[in-house]
Amino acid sequence: MAGAEDRERIGETLVSEEDLGRRVIELGAEVSRDYEGRDLVLVAILKGAVPFLADLMRSITVPTELDFMAVSSYGSSTDSSGVVRILKDLDASISGREVLIVEDIIDSGLTLQYLLKNLMARNPSSLEVCALLTKPERRRVDLPIRYVGFEIPNRFAIGYGLDHDQRFRNLSYVAALKETPPAGD
Ligand code: IMP
Ligand code: MG
Repeated sequence: MAGAEDRERIGETLVSEEDLGRRVIELGAEVSRDYEGRDLVLVAILKGAVPFLADLMRSITVPTELDFMAVSSYGSSTDSSGVVRILKDLDASISGREVLIVEDIIDSGLTLQYLLKNLMARNPSSLEVCALLTKPERRRVDLPIRYVGFEIPNRFAIGYGLDHDQRFRNLSYVAALKETPPAGD
């Protein structure tokens, strides 16, 4: 049964539901303070950022609009190719707007590097990044990330939006993916 197999791949907790809840509220308060008196456009990166976005936006108190981008950097392997393809672009222009990218996780940084370059070319009045998770050990490019929820060790993370082969996004906390045990007797 697929459901049972899935459960066997959920490893140790990397960030608990309680810690997520607390930190996301803190991030929302920080964003609200920093952008006071300004209007904000949140650009969430589909699909992984959805749970984070939903929680974060509800603790942001400045006038906020939402837009979405979908990019693919992976396929179903666990290593970034560095090649980024836009699957869905923004609905609206961000020229002259205060833009905050909302991302689930920064791993190598290659996806974000591409996004920053692409969005900067559209002349926003500011462009910052809010990432729920980062894996500092895996970073291949140095990028300015204004808001970070948690630094996690070099493990493949699942849950709270993060997937492995499109599964596990609905877990309410962040766990490490368990390696499959070698087949055989
Ligand atoms: P990067 O280009 O290597 O920084 O990878 C960025 C994208 O890869 C993220 O937006 C995630 O969608 C995905 N990703 C990276 N690491 C993980 C992980 O540990 N679990 C799930 N997805 C990941
Ligand atoms: Mg993703």
